[in-house]
Amino acid sequence: MNWSELSFGYLPTDYNVRCYYRDGKWGDLEVSSSENITMHMGATCLHYGQEAFEGLKAFRGPDEKIRVFRVDENAKRMQTSAEAILMEAFPVEKFKEAVIKAVQLNKRFVPPFESGASLYIRPLLIGTGPKVGVQPSDEYLFIIFVTPVGPYFKGGFKPANMVIMREYDRAAPHGTGTIKVGGNYAASLKSGELAHKMGYASVLYLDAREKKYIDECGAANFFMIKGNTYATPESTSILPSITNKSLMQLAKDMGMTVEKRPIALDELEDFEEVGACGTAAVITPIGRIDDADTGKQYEFATNGQAGPVCLKLYQTLRGIQYGELPDPYGWTTIID
Ligand code: PLP
Ligand code: COI
Repeated sequence: MNWSELSFGYLPTDYNVRCYYRDGKWGDLEVSSSENITMHMGATCLHYGQEAFEGLKAFRGPDEKIRVFRVDENAKRMQTSAEAILMEAFPVEKFKEAVIKAVQLNKRFVPPFESGASLYIRPLLIGTGPKVGVQPSDEYLFIIFVTPVGPYFKGGFKPANMVIMREYDRAAPHGTGTIKVGGNYAASLKSGELAHKMGYASVLYLDAREKKYIDECGAANFFMIKGNTYATPESTSILPSITNKSLMQLAKDMGMTVEKRPIALDELEDFEEVGACGTAAVITPIGRIDDADTGKQYEFATNGQAGPVCLKLYQTLRGIQYGELPDPYGWTTIID
């Protein structure tokens, strides 16, 4: 395996972990070596979008230990997603157990430290029981598969360009944007592909109601730096990113002021550094944001390099994830 050349894609691994909810209870964790699932053609995940997923990563440190980052947070967020679309929530402890099992069984796919790659862990929860009327399923399937990955945005820690297009929304205010369900990603596919064709790494979505405030990118939260301030949008249509939550803590620890508030697009030019953050994106500095509707361009990393604050946050986060720096908040779980 050419670990350092990996992109963010699917590669088969040895095993996945599954658990079924039937007759009102969750069964035991099962191990499978099949990449396929069989389900009823009337399953609610196929018709009415009863589907939620998560994304987290395992890292191999210079000490050879494998660490998983903030697994409790992903477990809790998946419960929030499940409850919001009336699926049976998967128990937090069982989620952790399943993550550990999936990583242990596929240890040989955790990339070496030097490669900068990691093992992406994808938990999935779907309604599998048949319904023709719009109703929640009586049966559910929880699966975790893993796959080794490189950077989500080409170039990794190199500045990426993003585009604003008011014609497309990802999620409505008070809709499903705050939970991690497939429908949000379906809604972002067309605009995302269009942005790629236009040469951008991603769309930067504005709030759907007024198109006045910044929401987030298609698969990552958004943050901005000005002097000693770390600012990130507050909105009823963006996903609460675990990476962003971690960066807010790290920024505070660096003595920065952290602001989580509605951020108007008009304010963008006041900021010195801006970036996207998420499990897949890690921190991706943003070089330029083009407003495709007005033609306005917002330039940041004009020298093609990430700014100093983005760099420090990136190094601190990566340091904790790979076990090179102390982990004062117990964010990592070591897998034996
Ligand atoms: N926003 C969206 C829409 C995402 O899909 C993701 C990825 O999970 C994020 C933000 C970042 O969240 P996290 O840092 O928890 O991975
Ligand atoms: C993640 O960062 O885990 C994501 O889910 C982003 C994307 C691959 C959907």
